[in-house]
Amino acid sequence: MSTGSGRFIVLEGIDGSGTTTQASRLAASLREAGHAVVSTREPSDGPIGVVLRQALKRRLVGLSDRVLALLFAADRLDHLASVVEPALAEGKVVISDRYVLSSMAYQGMRMPLAWVEALNAAARPADLTLYLDVDARTAARRRHGRGGSEELFDADEVQRAVARAYGRVVRKHARSQRVVRVDGRATADEVAKEILATVRTVLQRRGRK
Ligand code: TMP
Repeated sequence: MSTGSGRFIVLEGIDGSGTTTQASRLAASLREAGHAVVSTREPSDGPIGVVLRQALKRRLVGLSDRVLALLFAADRLDHLASVVEPALAEGKVVISDRYVLSSMAYQGMRMPLAWVEALNAAARPADLTLYLDVDARTAARRRHGRGGSEELFDADEVQRAVARAYGRVVRKHARSQRVVRVDGRATADEVAKEILATVRTVLQRRGRK
């Protein structure tokens, strides 16, 4: 591990795969078990993340795919320096809703993947990445069910391409980002149980170090 004694856990998946629900359920379970947990997300709540959320909601238009890729990478480095690394140095468990694999999947499907990987090379790898594997059709049903306005990458055909892109980058970065694939089509309770069991194993490994 490269920083402090904490653990950096990431949830990834297409829109509607349940990363936000499962990140908050995992944080609650770990807190209940007595762990010091920092819950966070990307795009972050920092200055660049705020700009990105405006672009996702189409309130800020005209940014090219290239500029978006640069902004996601810049937000990541800012998020690492201001939130993630300090918490890890204090021995906390940091849970992030999305991280580098999101850029590799979403930006990597529109820009050369090698370039997106190079932009993100300075971002430390996650100690565990939980990839919520959900087919595009199931995810679309969930997104439509929860309503709200359609964001930049929400169109069903875009999500099918994102699912394929995730498949590729998850295989490619399985070792470096320590990816564990979770069947995200099960009920929220079942998915939460599987995630917690996986995370407990990883946290126990720390105890034995
Ligand atoms: P969410 O907060 O609902 O997960 O939405 C974030 C959106 O931003 C989602 O469509 C994925 C996208 N995204 C990227 O395209 N690249 C990235 O690096 C990150 C972190 C998110």
